[in-house]
Amino acid sequence: MGPNLSGPWWQTGVIYQIYPRSFQDTNGDGVGDLAGITTRLDYLNDGTPGSLGVDAIWLSPFYPSPMADFGYDVADYLGVDPLFGTLADFDALVHAAHARGIRVVVDLVPNHTSDRHPWFVESRSSRDNPKRHWYVWADPKADGSPPNNWLSEFRRVGRAWTLDAATGQYYLHSFLPQQPDLNWWDPEVREAMDGVLRFWLDRGVDGFRIDVAHRMAHDPELRDNPLIEAGEDGPRGDEDWPEVHAILRRFRQTLEAYGDRMMMGETYLPDPARMVRYYGEAVDELHLAQNFVFLQQPWRAAAMRAAVDQFESLLPAGAWPDYFLNNHDHSRVVSRYDEGGNGLARARMAAIMLLTLRGTPLLYQGEELGLADVPIPPERAYDIAGRDPERTPMPWDRSATPGAGFTTGEPWLPLGAHAARVNMAAQHDDPASMLSLYRRLIWYRKSSAALLLGSYRPLDSAPDGVFAYLREADSERLLVALNFTNRPIEVDAGGVAASGHLELSTDSDRLTWEVGPSPLPLGPNEGVIVRLS
Ligand code: NOJ
Ligand code: CA
Repeated sequence: MGPNLSGPWWQTGVIYQIYPRSFQDTNGDGVGDLAGITTRLDYLNDGTPGSLGVDAIWLSPFYPSPMADFGYDVADYLGVDPLFGTLADFDALVHAAHARGIRVVVDLVPNHTSDRHPWFVESRSSRDNPKRHWYVWADPKADGSPPNNWLSEFRRVGRAWTLDAATGQYYLHSFLPQQPDLNWWDPEVREAMDGVLRFWLDRGVDGFRIDVAHRMAHDPELRDNPLIEAGEDGPRGDEDWPEVHAILRRFRQTLEAYGDRMMMGETYLPDPARMVRYYGEAVDELHLAQNFVFLQQPWRAAAMRAAVDQFESLLPAGAWPDYFLNNHDHSRVVSRYDEGGNGLARARMAAIMLLTLRGTPLLYQGEELGLADVPIPPERAYDIAGRDPERTPMPWDRSATPGAGFTTGEPWLPLGAHAARVNMAAQHDDPASMLSLYRRLIWYRKSSAALLLGSYRPLDSAPDGVFAYLREADSERLLVALNFTNRPIEVDAGGVAASGHLELSTDSDRLTWEVGPSPLPLGPNEGVIVRLS
């Protein structure tokens, strides 16, 4: 009998995040579109190891939007912004993805709408409008100041309240003033969002990524956050309010009626103990709570191990972990961890970690090419929170045009000087490239029950500076060893096996070496997978 590789797709698969604006443009306007994604599906997975091999794509928002927050300000939950195409383009994308066995996950933004959403336009039109209570309205304090001290997540915005002069009340916005928060205490809002979920499920989507899943409910009494002034983390009325769990259970019930669908949530909470609650006490909320742990760790083996061990120990029984290194809101790994030019070497090793831990790996477009943040000149910057550098378009080929195969026009953000070197075409057939490493890792993972579903056991005998662990399923035993230092180091793996076979290394020259696991020599920033016998 072969290894048991079965499990729900969102446990065994690799999920690849696409930022539609920056993936592939087809009409020369410099902005990526849905039709562009369809043309690149074979790159993502054509069923052969010559393609990247991802199992699902998660699309950042493509809905009609004034784009104040690049689509995270939704003006119509049930459509496609003309910039990105049409609903027919969306259907074609889903159809073409499914034909290749690629699942499609869409971003759901239930915490807030755009201020141009007809719901908000109605809501703000008068105090007695039937949709007034769909949003969070409150009277000014006696001195005219905002109802409480809550702050927007965007530091430059300041207070999370904006006064609507016409009706004399403030409305809540956790992000931009153009993103008013929905009032999730209102049953009509819950019903309306059920309809949104069903609309996309009926269209064939395989799941949702729920934007700021931890924010939907808030303190109905709108009390001050006690510790905001002290700059400390404490109990907050504006996020992680207990009622949010009831909302997520309701979403989950809607999904369950459709079978094999999945919801993962953006649970950007600094305390992992609170984050894991989003799986639900009865594991009846999120299938995957996005774990931001690697975005906050220093480049140290002990820190990475502690973060993984803590998550493993906190996970409720039956819940499934996930990990990621990059997304559209944070500096890319190559830049984030760069120290004197070793950013790419570190990113290669981080890739081995990501694809070999127990849990679903989430990739962000471009990380498989080793893209770095692109410095954006101030006159071309868009984002209020400075996130343009990690949102630059995909460099697909070596063409000299500024578009590098992304667009025939002027790209909405520059691709950066590295595009001539760091691009898909240049890396595709180069065995030493980052793309080849990701491809090998992803396809290797697919064939390994230990990596897909096996247990995780950290190796205590690893020396300082090395994070090493075993992944085991039935008779398959893999040792992963990651050298977080800039110097060569030896790992004593004698306690776990006498011999082994080196399956994969960040060092492409070592790919075919036979080694005994003890001592296992690692180069600077080298990561390896060893099959133990
Ligand atoms: C999280 C998204 O990832 C981010 O891009 C956005 O600005 C906020 N949520 C608000 O929707
Ligand atoms: Ca376009």
